[in-house]
Parts: sequence; structure tokens; C-alpha cells
Amino acid sequence: MKSKTAMLSELRTRVITHGHASLASVYVDSACGAVIRDVEGREYIDFAGGIGVMNVGHSHPRVVAAIKEQAEKFTHTCFMVLPYESAVKLADKLCAIAPGSFPKSTFFVNSGAEAVENAVKIARYYTKKPAIIALEHSFHGRTLLTLSLTSKIKPYKFGFGPFMPEIYHIPSAYCYRCHFGLKYPECEVACADYLNEFFINHVSPESTAAFIAEPIQGEGGFITPPREYFTKVHKICRDHGILFIADEIQSGTGRTGKMFAIEHYGVAPELITMAKSFAAGMPLSAVVGKKEIMDSVHPQGLGGTYGPNPVACQAALAVMEIFEKERLLHKAKAIGEKIRECLESWQNEFEIIGEIRGLGPMLAMELVKDRQSKEPASDEAKAVVRFCLDRGLVVLTCGTFSNVIRLLPPLVITDEQLERGLSIMEEALTAIGK
Ligand SMILES: Cc1ncc(COP(=O)(O)O)c(C=O)c1O
Repeated sequence: MKSKTAMLSELRTRVITHGHASLASVYVDSACGAVIRDVEGREYIDFAGGIGVMNVGHSHPRVVAAIKEQAEKFTHTCFMVLPYESAVKLADKLCAIAPGSFPKSTFFVNSGAEAVENAVKIARYYTKKPAIIALEHSFHGRTLLTLSLTSKIKPYKFGFGPFMPEIYHIPSAYCYRCHFGLKYPECEVACADYLNEFFINHVSPESTAAFIAEPIQGEGGFITPPREYFTKVHKICRDHGILFIADEIQSGTGRTGKMFAIEHYGVAPELITMAKSFAAGMPLSAVVGKKEIMDSVHPQGLGGTYGPNPVACQAALAVMEIFEKERLLHKAKAIGEKIRECLESWQNEFEIIGEIRGLGPMLAMELVKDRQSKEPASDEAKAVVRFCLDRGLVVLTCGTFSNVIRLLPPLVITDEQLERGLSIMEEALTAIGK
């Protein structure tokens, strides 16, 4: 008799487009905390968190209770027709926790891409300027505007053009593979100053509405700019009336040990986009920004049928409560230290590890064929992921060259689960990376 997995795989191939691929044919039955159980009863430790969505863990009892309670009351009225308390309370919370002491305001939508789209719309509306500057190695989503902002061609952009006009890309602060061939700190973060040169040859500041960046570039390979980078860039932007949009969709909600990764840089962006972990898997995203900018848009200029879904709002409020009650930021820091210590010890042992980078528990290792040439070890990274999966650990690659192994475990992971996951990764490196 065919296994349930085989039957589901067959059916899926028939009825779901190949364009929407999955890492593995592991059909999930249930998940709790940092553990996923599939339809065959196999268990997996989760170091992927559904791509950084499960920071508070799968099926957290507070989130489940909030969802159930709200679902029994009502699931939709459309905020544009009749509003509700949960959305207002959540917005109040987000305005309070987002960096910056200025008054703020919120706009809710459903997915990360939608939040980025709307941040761009708001920035254009407020500044009355068209151009947006993004970074190479960036990922901002898969709708046509956000795909235009995204950098990597294959698999994301290939075949889907033409893209939006007035989008420009500059090299990012990828110190391990510096675009300018420089070394930090002697470089004095020349990649930030390059913006001034870019204004001469590519687009004028007078026609630039916003600069958008992920504080840590997630899909791009957990590229972590030096501390001075965003201070410098933000100053250049402010000098020219250009808004800074921090895309915190992957790096936010405590992922780096602070609520927002940009807090590590001491910068208060004019606009921030949030999604993924802040509603624990419910489709909810937000743009939080300076009130003056957010409120510049005319009534009905922003909207959508679903955002903010009331069930998702209650889930997000539960997430905020969990962060406070369970001191999750504190826990995140401890997890981060533990993982970093482990990865650094591996770097001494495994030649394949070219660089360890990230902040707090948002950590990754870039694999290279040899440390001199830095040739990306993409096949080896894929093999590590496969090896781990076969032994019960879900872990993901990322990076422009698909050679970075990233760790995004739920922040509620137990010490025992974390150690078990890391020991599987070590076995994988021993088998593949020596
Ligand atoms: C930094 C960043 N921005 C935007 C997005 C797009 O979010 P969504 O897939 O919810 O549209 C992602 C998704 O991975 C992301 O990591």
C-alpha cells in the first residue's frame, strides 16, 4: 500500500503548479514549539520556522487560545467597513515598540510583499518623488513591485519582467565579498558613502523617494552590515529628504535578540515593514512609520479587503504578550550566544565554513569550496540540508549563491532540542564539509 506521503505527493504533482515548489515532500500533520510531526509520524526539529515565521514556536497555547476565541466571535467585517478593537490595540502596541520617539501610525495588510508595496506607495505619496533605491542581494517579495526591488534573478525574477521603472540597486555591505574590494574597518564603510556617487551617475536625490533595506539581508545570505553602515546611510538620506524604509519582515519580531534588527544600529527609520513572526503564521503585515508621513495619504488611498484580519490581530497581540511574559528577547540572546559559540568552534574545524555572521540568534554560515578563492559551495550546502532532513532536522539555505546555511529556530526551543539540532548539523558538516 502506498504511504500517505506518496499519495499526497502524487496528487500535489497533478493539482499544484510546479512553480510553487517545497524543500521536501514532508507533509506536516502537527507542530508544537520547535518540533514538527509529519503524516507518517516522523518528528523533525525545526530550524526553519516556516522561513522565520515561528519565533514564538508552533501552536503556542496563548496564540491558539487567542485565535479560537476570536474565531468564535467573528472572523471578518473588513476594517474599511467596520473596525474593531484588536486592530487598534495592536497598532498602539506597534507604534510604542517601533524605534523612534516621534509620533507613529500604522497600516495593516496581509503579506510581507504587500507591506513593502504600501511602504513604497506611502513614501512616494509623501515625498512626491518616484525613485526607490534598494540593495543588491535584497529580497522584498514576489509581487511585481517587490520583485523589482528584489535583487536575485534566478529563481525570483527570471522570466517575470518587465519590472517597475524608477527602481535602482546599489551594492550592499557584504563585507565577505566586498563589491569595492575593500576590508572593514579600513574601508570606513565606503559602500555607504557610495550613495553620494550613485546620485551623480544613476538617479538624483531630488527624484528619490526612499532607500529600502533589510537590516540583515535574509534571503540574500544573512548579510550583516557593519554597525556604522545604517547611521551613515540614514544621514545621507535625511540630508536629501529621502525616507529610509527598514524591511524587518525577516529580521524583526525578536529574531536578532532585539524587537527590530535596526535597533542594533541605533537608527530610527521613517518607515518599517513587518510580517512573518509578528502574527505567528497568521497572514498579517504592517507598515509602521512617522505619523506625519503615514497620515499624508488621503482617506481611502490605502486599504484592502482583509487587512487587518481580526483573528490575525489577536494572534499578533498574543505574540506581543508572549515576548513580555516569557522574556523571549532575553531567551533569544541566550540562544544566539549558544549557537554562535557552536558555529565558531565549527569554523576552526571545517574548512568549508568561510564566514559566520548575523546578530543574536539570526545566524548563518557561508560555505565555500576553499577559503582563498571563496568559491561558493552551493552543492555542499544543499547536501547539508538534505543530510539534516534525513536525520530529522529542517534547516534552510539562503544567499545569492545558495551557499549559506541559515538558522531560524523558534525562540522557545528547548536546550535539548537546540543541542540535538546542532549535533545533526555537525554530523552533516563532518560528512560533507571536511
Ligand atoms: C525581508 C523580506 N521582505 C519581504 C518578504 C516577502 O514577504 P511575503 O512572502 O510574506 O510576501 C520576505 C519574505 O521572505 C522577506 O524576507
